[in-house]
Amino acid sequence: MSLHWLWRFLCVLIFLQFYLCISKPASVQFPCKPPHHHSFTFCNKSLPITTRAQSLISLLTLQEKIKQLSNNASGIPRLGIPAYEWWSESLHGIATNGPGVSFMSGPVSKATGFPQVLVTAAAFNRTLWFLIGSAIAIEARAMYNVGQAGLTFWAPNVNIFRDPRWGRGQETPGEDPMVASAYAIAYVKGLQGVNWKDTNGFSANKFKTGAKRVLVEDDDHGNDGLMVSACCKHVTAYDLESWGNFSRYSFNAVVTEQDLEDTFQTPFRTCVQEANVSCLMCSYNQVNGVPACAREDLLQKARTEWGFKGYITSDCDAVATIFEYQNYTKSPEDAVAITIKAGMDINCGSYVARHGQLAVDQGKLREENIDRALLNLFSVQLRLGLFDGDPKYGKFGGLGPENVCTTEHRTLALEAARQGIVLVKNDGKFLPLDKRTVSSLAIIGPLANNASSLGGDYTGYSCNPQSLFEGLKEFVDKTSYEGGCLDVSCNSDSRFHEARRVARKADFVVLVAGLDLSQETEDHDRVSLLLPGEQMALVSSVAAASKKPVILVLTGGGPLDVSFARDNPKIASILWIGYPGEAGPRALAEIIFGEYNPAGKLPMTWYPESFTKIPMSDMRMRSDPASGYPGRTYRFYIGDQVYGFGRGLSYTDFTYKFLSAPRKLSLSGFLKAKRVLNQREENLDYVHVNEMTSCNILRFQVQISVTNIGDVDGNHVVMLFSRVPKIVMGTPEKQLVGFDRVHTTSYKSTETSISIDPCEHLSVANEKGERVIPLGDHVLMLEDIEHYVTIVV
Ligand SMILES: *[C@@H]1O[C@H](CO)[C@@H](O)[C@H](O)[C@H]1NC(C)=O
Ligand SMILES: *[C@@H]1O[C@H](CO)[C@@H](O)[C@H](O)[C@H]1NC(C)=O
Ligand SMILES: *[C@@H]1O[C@H](CO)[C@@H](O)[C@H](O)[C@H]1NC(C)=O
Ligand SMILES: *[C@@H]1O[C@H](CO)[C@@H](O)[C@H](O)[C@H]1NC(C)=O
Ligand SMILES: *[C@@H]1O[C@H](CO)[C@@H](O)[C@H](O)[C@H]1NC(C)=O
Ligand SMILES: *[C@@H]1O[C@H](CO)[C@@H](O)[C@H](O)[C@H]1NC(C)=O
Ligand SMILES: *[C@@H]1O[C@H](CO)[C@@H](O)[C@H](O)[C@H]1NC(C)=O
Repeated sequence: MSLHWLWRFLCVLIFLQFYLCISKPASVQFPCKPPHHHSFTFCNKSLPITTRAQSLISLLTLQEKIKQLSNNASGIPRLGIPAYEWWSESLHGIATNGPGVSFMSGPVSKATGFPQVLVTAAAFNRTLWFLIGSAIAIEARAMYNVGQAGLTFWAPNVNIFRDPRWGRGQETPGEDPMVASAYAIAYVKGLQGVNWKDTNGFSANKFKTGAKRVLVEDDDHGNDGLMVSACCKHVTAYDLESWGNFSRYSFNAVVTEQDLEDTFQTPFRTCVQEANVSCLMCSYNQVNGVPACAREDLLQKARTEWGFKGYITSDCDAVATIFEYQNYTKSPEDAVAITIKAGMDINCGSYVARHGQLAVDQGKLREENIDRALLNLFSVQLRLGLFDGDPKYGKFGGLGPENVCTTEHRTLALEAARQGIVLVKNDGKFLPLDKRTVSSLAIIGPLANNASSLGGDYTGYSCNPQSLFEGLKEFVDKTSYEGGCLDVSCNSDSRFHEARRVARKADFVVLVAGLDLSQETEDHDRVSLLLPGEQMALVSSVAAASKKPVILVLTGGGPLDVSFARDNPKIASILWIGYPGEAGPRALAEIIFGEYNPAGKLPMTWYPESFTKIPMSDMRMRSDPASGYPGRTYRFYIGDQVYGFGRGLSYTDFTYKFLSAPRKLSLSGFLKAKRVLNQREENLDYVHVNEMTSCNILRFQVQISVTNIGDVDGNHVVMLFSRVPKIVMGTPEKQLVGFDRVHTTSYKSTETSISIDPCEHLSVANEKGERVIPLGDHVLMLEDIEHYVTIVV
């Protein structure tokens, strides 16, 4: 500490160099930095990645190899290789959760705080998701260049938001596997810096314009090059933290093949096949009795069937838990051996580094198993250019502190919050308010004046945090604030009278209720879906006391049973803002005062409190009416709901029309010849997807027109659902097959087109987990407008 101050003092003395001294990081070490270490084969940029990786492996002793199998990988000084920290986090902005990121050790002390993923997901805008990934990649590279971050980031989290109580549901794109897949594709491509190969009409070699100092050189690594490495986590069926007697560290998720195929594994498969993700993370839980990181079949399937090229990391200490919590193996060495042999390449934690040598000595693990892991690890590092010497001379070397918290990125964070906020109730078009007619405003609630609670989990230090109160005050100067409760737990009504007093005096009242991380987070699931503590009473009593009906703003990721508010006429409007990030307050104010017309839609079902009698540990997606099990998510759930998946209002109204879509689809020309006979003979009413010669050729476009029938312009999320004939047990009620967010001006129409692949979108998983296309009438649905497509052989 004192040395640090002395250094600063000297800097101040040498005034002209002041800026340089403060902003210059402590000399950062990078591998293959000339002149000392460029003669190694693994440093030779003209050689293929595999050659370089293999050469490096060949230079290492067994001991050195084992020390690479931890997130805190040891340095190898004799080869000029510094230690590398694999664990950095960037769920919705550069975050502090992983030790790879430091906001304290250099010139970058803040990074753009985008909304939590569930909010961004609610925007249903792939372009937005991609641009957020790209912006984070720029900030990540900028921080790496000054030694404040690694290049391997463990995001996105694409587990399905299966149960409303899940503490980490907020981190995910919601409950629908198709949306989660689309999010994974866009975010991963953005983060990994792959040029968006334009299905959406825009080309986004974003960072060239975003960061003017980027040297655009030939990519040394061809198609394989990575700007930043993304990681789709957590494989698989991970969506329980701590509930009842169950803990994520030992929970055995009992899942059917059917649910695995069309729910739990779907986002991971897409993330590999369509986004070329360079990392997968295996989860703590067991999947049908075997720890996920030891599920050789699942891990190998990703490589052999999906074409995964990258590394597989364990969740943090997930190898240790196999022995220590699950008692699944007889010794630590067995836990190390079964995971590495199953295909896991690196262990977040030190367990493998500590027990690996003995595992080899005992003959449980072979050096070639370790070499395989190292090949995957080094290949990713090489694709990132980590062994290309000083990054200053590389493709991304121009990025630095001035590329973090740029106006462009902060505007994108604002745009994401605007697009993601969901208007769930708006009686009599109470909103938007006309700023000119609002003489005073009251904002009430324990989080209403708290700028640090708006990021959700996995956040960093935001560029410019603001509270909701501050955001509204910029629009109406006479805005007053009262917490009503001490904190979100709201254990006392002692300040309710004060809240009512403040509300009574104001022209309009905004109530802020809901959740923060004290209610839902990593290692912490909820037990109730109701507002915490006395919050419900606060909302009702303030609403009753207010002159006019009030606006209720809900925070948090988990669905809330707010049926009391839905049914209360003194609560005119309800807005869900989730965790809207650093620009959330501004976005909320813009929406309340009509400067932005909301278009977000809920990416998950809001269940009633009675749902909590269903054990969270029951993984079944499908309902079982015989035993009273209601099923989960809009695809299978058959009970009452508070608000449904896809709920979201606008200040205008829209109507739809199918412009064109086929009425009939014949599969007969596309079946493997021998199987056609079988189908006919057995008189089956479905076709197995793997009996098709080609699906691509059967792909068709559904042309849709959206008309804005109101007098304000607006964005609108078009959701196309399909209902397939119920020939297979466990067929969903309906499933989302495509979506698009379009802009439509008042009294005008916009056309959009959604591409349907029958093998993917008109198929269902059978009980063996195989995809089949039912023959007969399939229904495509835009809200209540239907279009029939008959499939025949
Ligand atoms: C790097 O590899 C290329 C291709 O094999 C070779 O021609 C070149 O001499 C190597 N450079 C060094 C410095 O070894
Ligand atoms: C990382 O590993 C090195 C040894 O290679 C050790 O000195 C250091 O304490 C470790 N850091 C952490 C955070 O475990
Ligand atoms: C937890 O375990 C206790 C004792 O084994 C049992 O009585 C209780 O029903 C369990 N709770 C749940 C939610 O499974
Ligand atoms: C995935 O990588 C392969 C080569 O490794 C490349 O041919 C393909 O274009 C990539 N796909 C995407 C979507 O980037
Ligand atoms: C594992 O074994 C320990 C004793 O070695 C025991 O305390 C613990 O309850 C066991 N855990 C499980 C999940 O069986
Ligand atoms: C703001 O909220 C955070 C998290 O929700 C909490 O830890 C903190 O104490 C709150 N700060 C104030 C001033 O209420
Ligand atoms: C989708 O997001 C992009 C990037 O923020 C934005 O430019 C575009 O207007 C959005 N589309 C709609 C219809 O909101």
